[in-house]
Amino acid sequence: MPERLLLDLGAPPPVPEEGIAAAEAVLRSGWTHRYGETLGDASEAALLEAEFAAHLGTRYCVAVNSCGSAMFLALLGAGVRPGDRVLMNAFTLAPVPGAVAHAGAEHVLIEVTPDLVIDLADLERKAAASGARHLLLSHMRGHICDMTRLMALCDRLGIAVIEDCAHTMGASWAGRPTGTFGRAGCFSLQAYKHVNGGEGGLIATDDDDIAARAILYSGSYMLYRQHRARPPEAAFARWKDMTPNYSMRMSNLVAAVARPQVALLAERARIWNDRHGRLVALLGALPGIRLPHRPQEEAFVQSSIQFAVAGLEGPAFARFLAACRARGVYLKWFGAREPEGYTSVSGQWRYLAEPHTPPVTEAVLERLCDMRIPLAMTEQDCATVARIVGEELAEARTP
Ligand SMILES: Cc1ncc(COP(=O)(O)O)c(C=O)c1O
Repeated sequence: MPERLLLDLGAPPPVPEEGIAAAEAVLRSGWTHRYGETLGDASEAALLEAEFAAHLGTRYCVAVNSCGSAMFLALLGAGVRPGDRVLMNAFTLAPVPGAVAHAGAEHVLIEVTPDLVIDLADLERKAAASGARHLLLSHMRGHICDMTRLMALCDRLGIAVIEDCAHTMGASWAGRPTGTFGRAGCFSLQAYKHVNGGEGGLIATDDDDIAARAILYSGSYMLYRQHRARPPEAAFARWKDMTPNYSMRMSNLVAAVARPQVALLAERARIWNDRHGRLVALLGALPGIRLPHRPQEEAFVQSSIQFAVAGLEGPAFARFLAACRARGVYLKWFGAREPEGYTSVSGQWRYLAEPHTPPVTEAVLERLCDMRIPLAMTEQDCATVARIVGEELAEARTP
């Protein structure tokens, strides 16, 4: 019998007892909706916003129902209008182009490097050619580009940056948290993210107008004063009669589940990065596997691992993946012809004006494997994964 990985690689981070108790208290009280005529500003959602803003060091935070909604509202708040062009790295997942489409804007796809970060030279070229004024930068799978250079470039070109931090909650570049570089940072509380609220999104910003507009768009009615981490009244006065209610609020139930997990971020990061480091060492020692280079300035939180596999053509790659999966090692592949599960590439987003995967990105993604790192993964599990990948790789390469 060949060895099998018994760990479920698809297991999300568990909700701690404190979150379960808080959710139960919300259910028993009936205050599941974040606003109430007599509620004041102590709803779970308002407290989560205040706590997350304090955690990140931003002035404001707005809780919404997903990171997709957060990105959409941040784009609107930053001034994106229907028909505008929005720059975005081509390596990301479907909610990112979805948010651009939701805003009625057109996608300008930027190459990523073999180290899985946005290519700054291509960004500069396409920013000039397209005339785009906004960049939705996805820190995809936790890989952070040189944010010092990126911000200098975007400042010089007059491009507003919105950060997609769905995979970088708890991460930083040169000591500064992701989500605090651009005009707004958008975070996800979807079950697989670093804080598991089931569904949910957070917009962190220092910008009075983005914060006030996001609160109003998300569906605050005239109860926006029940937000704690909110901008001054003057910002609401500018926008409250001009802003439609899109009903994208976060429920108190999600906030109750999420709040205790913000305090767990550092410990979770330690576990994830330890397992990631072990996997990097073990997989990196296998012939033909390349791990992305990680600069010193990058303090990542790797709840997943990405590696490039050389020397396997399409059908052999598919057989390698199937063999690993049959032994419990669920690897995802960005080179598949069809989108599968959560994974897709930009050439498969047929609703784009010009669906394509830029050539360098296509070559990078064709070889790229992706695997989740559950918090329950042990040292032994890391070794089992590496043995199975090594054996199946050798088998797939055998003529
Ligand atoms: C890179 C990336 N950005 C944004 C999102 C959007 O998150 P949500 O599911 O909360 O809308 C996801 C979701 O998986 C994602 O993978």
